[in-house]
Amino acid sequence: MQLSVNLGPRSYPIILENGTAQTLPSALKNAFPKSRFALVTNTVLAALYRGLITEWKEALGCVVYEMPDGERYKTIETWSGILDVLLTSKLERSSIVIALGGGVVGDVAGFAAASFLRGVGYVQIPTTLLAMVDSSVGGKTAVDHPLGKNLIGAFHQPKLVYIDTSFLSTLPDREFVSGYAELFKNAFIGGREMFEFVLANHTAMAAKEMPVLLDGIRRSIAVKAGVVEKDECETSGLRATLNFGHTFAHALERYCNFEKVLHGEAVWWGMRCAITCSRQGGSINGEMTDDYDAIVKIMPKPPLPEKPDPQRLYEMMFTDKKIAQGKLHLVLPTIPGSSVVRNDIPEGVVRSVLTAVFG
Ligand code: NAD
Ligand code: GLY
Repeated sequence: MQLSVNLGPRSYPIILENGTAQTLPSALKNAFPKSRFALVTNTVLAALYRGLITEWKEALGCVVYEMPDGERYKTIETWSGILDVLLTSKLERSSIVIALGGGVVGDVAGFAAASFLRGVGYVQIPTTLLAMVDSSVGGKTAVDHPLGKNLIGAFHQPKLVYIDTSFLSTLPDREFVSGYAELFKNAFIGGREMFEFVLANHTAMAAKEMPVLLDGIRRSIAVKAGVVEKDECETSGLRATLNFGHTFAHALERYCNFEKVLHGEAVWWGMRCAITCSRQGGSINGEMTDDYDAIVKIMPKPPLPEKPDPQRLYEMMFTDKKIAQGKLHLVLPTIPGSSVVRNDIPEGVVRSVLTAVFG
């Protein structure tokens, strides 16, 4: 099936299939008949999919760059290594960079494409659930800096997103649950129908029942595409709603030094905080509390390495790069499927939310 992100001259299709990865080279040659290609992946995927990557390499005649695995390699050094390969392979303005991997590979390869020869096209082939429902769509590319995550980057939309959900068969369970947080998140921002869908289909999706999961991925991409179409470069505030639960989550990630907790695991806790905060801060419509009780009941509680200290966690919330004028911007649910950005929640309420969730 095919979806699209409609952004005028920067529009692109999203192909969503299960088990079609072998046909990728012909799809790419049809879409980009005059282009040369370079593929960026990481060592984990290169080992797991050696045969497939070799087939693609031969069919496309492309160079393959394997970056080391992990967020700690989402750096200027890796970006620079990719550019070295693109330059020494004498790729041109018409060339296409293919990013095969999770959000880390997608972000750094996307940034290499954004900056090589002042910008060439790239294709996202996401292999984690997080990348399928979130990072491969929307054109945010970046590397990290010792001072913070994603501090150096560019908005650069891909030319195509090619999702084959069969890559999920090798994804570790912990990574699956983490990525699933970003799908589940859409229950709070993607409209009433998405809320009902997640509530009704959570068990099947969490059990990786493919037709249902595929439908959940499709719906999530549609939610994200709709937001990106209206606020491509995060200027109107709408795109900020994609960060539902994330202000709390980022604080938890920092608290755990970005090591002991995965991003999506922190988002599960962050979503719980956002719902509690909405209740305590008066955003949730009182008549809707039954719906929220039902959804909170099914949300996983990923294990934490230690019980976080709510007071320290509160301090950590103020080191987020997205804090404007020293005020917390919290995305809080209002009615099922909808949330608002609030910057007026009193300190006492936020502290009491952290105590209620983590204390
Ligand atoms: P990741 O890319 O590190 O992948 C997680 C782990 O799974 C890695 O060890 C990876 O090698 C492995 N892996 C990937 N696919 C696999 C497969 N099919 N089988 C087996 N193992 C596989 O992490 P992620 O969760 O995909 O992405 C997180 C990154 O995404 C962060 O850097 C975050 O900042 C970024 N992000 C970007 C956006 C955006 O809009 N650009 C949005 C959300 C997150
Ligand atoms: N993941 C948030 C965004 O793409 O804006």
